[in-house]
Amino acid sequence: MNFLNEVSSLFPSAVSLASGRPSDRFFDRLNPQVLLNAVNVYQNDSVGGHGGAHGWAHLLQYGRTAGIINELVAQQVQCDEGVPASADRVLITSGCQEAVALCLPALCPEPSDVLLVCNPTYIGAIGAAKATGVAAAALSNSEPCLADAIELAVLQLRQKSQQARAIYLIPDFDNPTGRVLDADERRNILQVCARHRLVVLEDNAYGLFRYDGDPVPPMAALDEVGSVIYLSTFSKTISPALRVGAASLPDTMFGDAAARRSLWEDLVRRKSFVTVNTSQIAQAIVAGLLIQNGGRLGDWIRPALDWYRENRDIMLCELDSVFSPFSDQIRWSRPSGGFFLTLDLPFRFGADCADECARRDHVIVTPLSFFALDNSQDCRIRLAFSAVTPEQIRTSVTGLGHYVARRLEQKLLRLRDGGARG
Ligand SMILES: Cc1ncc(COP(=O)(O)O)c(C=O)c1O
Repeated sequence: MNFLNEVSSLFPSAVSLASGRPSDRFFDRLNPQVLLNAVNVYQNDSVGGHGGAHGWAHLLQYGRTAGIINELVAQQVQCDEGVPASADRVLITSGCQEAVALCLPALCPEPSDVLLVCNPTYIGAIGAAKATGVAAAALSNSEPCLADAIELAVLQLRQKSQQARAIYLIPDFDNPTGRVLDADERRNILQVCARHRLVVLEDNAYGLFRYDGDPVPPMAALDEVGSVIYLSTFSKTISPALRVGAASLPDTMFGDAAARRSLWEDLVRRKSFVTVNTSQIAQAIVAGLLIQNGGRLGDWIRPALDWYRENRDIMLCELDSVFSPFSDQIRWSRPSGGFFLTLDLPFRFGADCADECARRDHVIVTPLSFFALDNSQDCRIRLAFSAVTPEQIRTSVTGLGHYVARRLEQKLLRLRDGGARG
């Protein structure tokens, strides 16, 4: 993360396809008056509000650690995402990132406990595991499906006297790959996890941003045994500056209601020592916007959704036109939602290459090795299309094309040199 920030500031004229930010253009809808109005709407709400002058004091005070807008958030994940959430099982967190960082050590408290992750996976999850001292093991990419890879990892860890306790997954529009797990894959994974009592941490930061095809039910909606903790965030739908996210726990943990209550209490206790409570002003803004939008965000995000879809299409079109001469060597994904796509290159692309590409070709991309636990992703990059304009997409893909053409030429020259010498 620091590297990308540094590259961006070193090369301010380069177009950044590195950051998975929501586009700034939709923040116009959130001017100070709108934000204040949202707070007022929440305060005057009959369910959660504390109207009048006392209401302001309430928001400005320290607050309930588990959050104050749990009812509305439970309703939102239920309406927008079909997750059977209930207020007494929702923990409001300072973004999804805090939810991950709280859950990992709570689910993997012993030194022999292990978190399973896809390889590559969201850098923030790997980072949170490191920061909280939780061991992470990468699932093999050679198994035909994730459920098999999980089974294999559980058994391999057992041989080393380690226990897989949880798996972190982004089933919808994965960061960094953009991949979606289909309903069968989700069910198979749930079955394996139930058999081994593995908790699924389902991170659905991008789930509402589907551009085509039918939505697949979240794993939390398919969960029949109480194995899925559902993580959501308002960072991509409203604004990341608010730092409001949530963890929704199942009714029971593997059928045990007391185990769920004790996990809940553990998470609240951990949060009380980390951020004490999530900003109540930020929670009130989210709540007010939810109330104004009938408890759901589907309509609210529509303009952004259309914009991101258009950006995805433009990026795919540019990739098709710039890279079609190299299509035997370079492949790119066609995501049906989310903020990212990936490119597979016929050469290694690390931090040094990102630096050169920014300096000479004025485009910043993210090496997938940043999201990996081994070197299997060294020849892949991630392009984010959410926070750029169509014009920037065109110039940046052209720039990337120049970079790739140069690398391929160098590769060819090296091969010829080698051949001549050999
Ligand atoms: C998959 C995923 N999870 C979580 C986050 C962090 O979200 P938040 O801003 O809610 O902490 C991100 C941010 O990019 C993300 O891509």
